[in-house]
Amino acid sequence: MPKRILVTGGTGYIGSHTVVELQQAGYEVVIIDNLSNSNADVLEGIPRITGKRPLFDKLDCTDFEAMKALFKKYPFDGIIHFAASKAVGESVEKPLIYYRNNLVSLVNLLELMPQYNVKGIVFSSSCTVYGEPDKNPIDENAPVKPATSPYGNTKQINEEIIRDFVHSGAPIKSIILRYFNPIGAHPSAEIGELPLGVPQNLVPYITQTGIGIRQQLSVFGDDYDTPDGSCIRDFINVVDLAKAHVIAIERMLEKKSDEKVEIFNLGTGIGLSVLELIKVFEKVSGKPLNYKIVGRREGDIEQIWAQPDKANNVLGWKAEETIEETMASAWKWQQRLREKGAM
Ligand code: WQD
Repeated sequence: MPKRILVTGGTGYIGSHTVVELQQAGYEVVIIDNLSNSNADVLEGIPRITGKRPLFDKLDCTDFEAMKALFKKYPFDGIIHFAASKAVGESVEKPLIYYRNNLVSLVNLLELMPQYNVKGIVFSSSCTVYGEPDKNPIDENAPVKPATSPYGNTKQINEEIIRDFVHSGAPIKSIILRYFNPIGAHPSAEIGELPLGVPQNLVPYITQTGIGIRQQLSVFGDDYDTPDGSCIRDFINVVDLAKAHVIAIERMLEKKSDEKVEIFNLGTGIGLSVLELIKVFEKVSGKPLNYKIVGRREGDIEQIWAQPDKANNVLGWKAEETIEETMASAWKWQQRLREKGAM
């Protein structure tokens, strides 16, 4: 009998790629999503890759009664919790939406888990919790600093809620995955990043500029204390990231660790600057990118990249895809969207 995993936010970018890897690892998947920041079309793309259409309910995780009915409907072996609001800039403008959505969703899930004998939850966190690191690369022991946005604060509070609930004796386990910068798309180009409206993140803005949807990329600052003056990030392939979630679920369900809460940084361990990433795009697309340098974006961190040793050695996961393969996958996906007339 295949184990059944609830994937909240499973029609989103990282969620959909994780559903593919879960199905290919033999898990049955139930997706819930309120479709506030994603498109149900992904429910056609996933089966084109795996041959299996995941179960899907359009639900909001902040609706306790709806969630209780869901847990009654399907016994779950584990949960991967992606559903959250995640735009840093928007969180500054609309903090209460972020606190309600990102905190109440998690509390609802945690409250229902013991009642319905759900043993483990993988939580989607972010390197944002580290703020501006004192040094790079950054490992899991680095201090969590005051958040630079309400979004980042919700991730920090979420992690504390999990730790406090487990500490209270709740019969559950959790693995917290702190992502660096997820980019790219599934190599099949059947699923990928689908930002609604003007992209906030760098890579979809690059590929939309490359295909002509956007006129010009604005590079937010080249006066940072870095080799070429632009910010440095740890860009991690979304499929590599998705695979880490399957390993994490297996680790919990097969009780491979006695620890109740484990935290892992998911990154490549390689820092790359914005301007370097633009050059990689130009190389893989074979075309120059139209960009200009503008002023810094408020809240941006100058440089952050992961020390992934714990994920490599304890979780048994390592990022495999090169940055060229990853940017090529993002470009292939953008071209597929153009062919489909999607954008
Ligand atoms: C990367 C770099 C920008 C757009 C955020 C969240 C993180 C995660 C990923 C959710 C920065 C520069 C960007 C543009 C640019 N979100 N940039 N022009 O801010 O590192 O991380 O998104 O899980 O939690 O914090 O990602 O892609 O927005 O920016 O120059 O049009 O690209 O200044 O240096 P970020 P990003």
